[in-house]
Amino acid sequence: RRFFPAAKAQSISIMASENVGTLKQQLAKLFDESLRATIPEELDVEPLIAACNPKFGDYQCNNAMSLWTKVKGKGSEFKGPQAIGQALSKNLPASEMIESCGIAGPGFVNVVLSRQWIAESIQKMLIDGIGTWAPKLLVKRAVIDFSSPNIAKEMHVGHLRSTIIGDTLARMLEFSNVEVRRRNHVGDWGTQFGMLIEHLFDKFPNGEVASDQAIGDLEAFYKASKQRFDSDSGFKERAQKAVVSLQGGVDKYRKAWTQICEISRRGYEKVYQRLGVYLEEKGESFYNPYIPSVLELLSQKGLIEESEGARVIFIEGKNIPLIVVKKDGGYNYASTDLAALWYRLNEEKAEWIIYVTDVGQREHFEMVFTAAKLAGWLPAEDNKYPKTSHVGFGLVLGEDGKRFRTRSTEVVRLVDLLDEAKSRCKAVLIERGKSEEWTADELEQTAEAVGYGAIKYADLKNNRLTNYTFSFDQMLNDKGNTAVYLLYAHARICSIIRKSGKDLEELKKTGTIELNHQDERALGLHLLQFAEVVEEACTNLLPNVLCEYLYNLSENYTKFYSTCTVVGSKEETSRLLLCEATAVVMRKCFHLLGITPVYKI
Ligand code: ARG
Repeated sequence: RRFFPAAKAQSISIMASENVGTLKQQLAKLFDESLRATIPEELDVEPLIAACNPKFGDYQCNNAMSLWTKVKGKGSEFKGPQAIGQALSKNLPASEMIESCGIAGPGFVNVVLSRQWIAESIQKMLIDGIGTWAPKLLVKRAVIDFSSPNIAKEMHVGHLRSTIIGDTLARMLEFSNVEVRRRNHVGDWGTQFGMLIEHLFDKFPNGEVASDQAIGDLEAFYKASKQRFDSDSGFKERAQKAVVSLQGGVDKYRKAWTQICEISRRGYEKVYQRLGVYLEEKGESFYNPYIPSVLELLSQKGLIEESEGARVIFIEGKNIPLIVVKKDGGYNYASTDLAALWYRLNEEKAEWIIYVTDVGQREHFEMVFTAAKLAGWLPAEDNKYPKTSHVGFGLVLGEDGKRFRTRSTEVVRLVDLLDEAKSRCKAVLIERGKSEEWTADELEQTAEAVGYGAIKYADLKNNRLTNYTFSFDQMLNDKGNTAVYLLYAHARICSIIRKSGKDLEELKKTGTIELNHQDERALGLHLLQFAEVVEEACTNLLPNVLCEYLYNLSENYTKFYSTCTVVGSKEETSRLLLCEATAVVMRKCFHLLGITPVYKI
């Protein structure tokens, strides 16, 4: 295998400039022109735009203060930040976006957007599709390493978090036109295979390959072999030799390994299917052949040293080095991750590599990333590409505030959680008489959408770094910030539109949106902020930002609906269009969060 030089680090900004961009970026563009006109000698100043207190306007440009400190005392024509703010406002190019500008405090420029422009933008989206509101990121290709369970061990709630968070990040980046490799870095190459294979051989002495049923519950199989490994020294010795035979590629061992992996894989696949998550497996074993040459590259850079019989990379500021070759000469988790990172950068040409694991692994990734920087594979600066990000998350807690376990103190099985969420939702629907109203299929599908959606949303709505408490009662509540509440809110909007009896496709073309009432305007503005929220969620890898937006959207809608009559009013057409736009944006949010929308309740 030939190795190519490491991908060249290059600097690219995250947003493509030719794209009209998000609301915020469109404003930034206008202020950029104004900045150049106002202070032509400070060309590298970036416009600082932020949403502002609604009392003063919609957005604010905050450049005046810092500009003042730059030009003060240099014979500037301006007498203070306020004057700079005034000039910034005066020099704004004419635009349909802006209704008015005001100056406040030390030169803040407050912008009130034009209602008509907001309305037209929404109508345009209704006609051209929500895809036109996708932020365009300049990153062309990303690898997201998520889910990644360990073969023969049950997937636990930590893997559920990784699966749910990783899938959402993948969906958001895909929506933003990034080519995403959804990578399942399964643990299929550990020393645990020695004991698994020996145990398999003992159970099937004639070398006959076992059927699925024979291994049955892989978790139990794993436990049985582990118990023997710990208590029987003869078995232990054989298991250790088996690892060598497996890694040496001995046919019989390879076959047994393949089979164990295959059974595990089928188990995972069922969970992924139920969650609607797609992943592409490249397990640890895949990178094994690359490890020697990758370590050689690092060695050539003088990064690898001998320490207590092992080969290690010392990282400044860390107490322990990164071990890349163990005392016994074997490779480990870190050597695999270095090879995988090399592969993703050089063979897959990924510009952004994202790892989704619990926060406990942060240290490991920091060391791997630093090693890659020292080797020159990655630029030293964090704002340059290619880059790597560790997306850490906290623990799932039980209602007792301790690490989440079931009664039997075993790890919680994912499938059981999904089953329970679904059956609880189904019971509620039946209680509401839906089994008479709907077909059996509709009942099943709705129970699934709501149940699985509730589990996902309960996880995603929190900042991922915090621990969260797993509670069916909380997540399945139809009030408050839950998927159930949001899905019902969406279904209610759909029912309002249905009951109006109007042809929405026709209205989109012939009607116009007007935002005369303040609650209409507030809802309209919130809709228009969708793109910048997705952009922020992508840039900071924070799904909770999108959840918060969705929840606020629903709140804005409720406010609008309680003050503005829709059906039968003289504003009916405009308001129905606003309802439709809300439903469209909500559905896109659901889609990005991996939640299946429901249309009736
Ligand atoms: N298999 C690991 C675990 O269960 C997660 C792997 C994460 N990805 C990686 N490239 N190390 O903890």
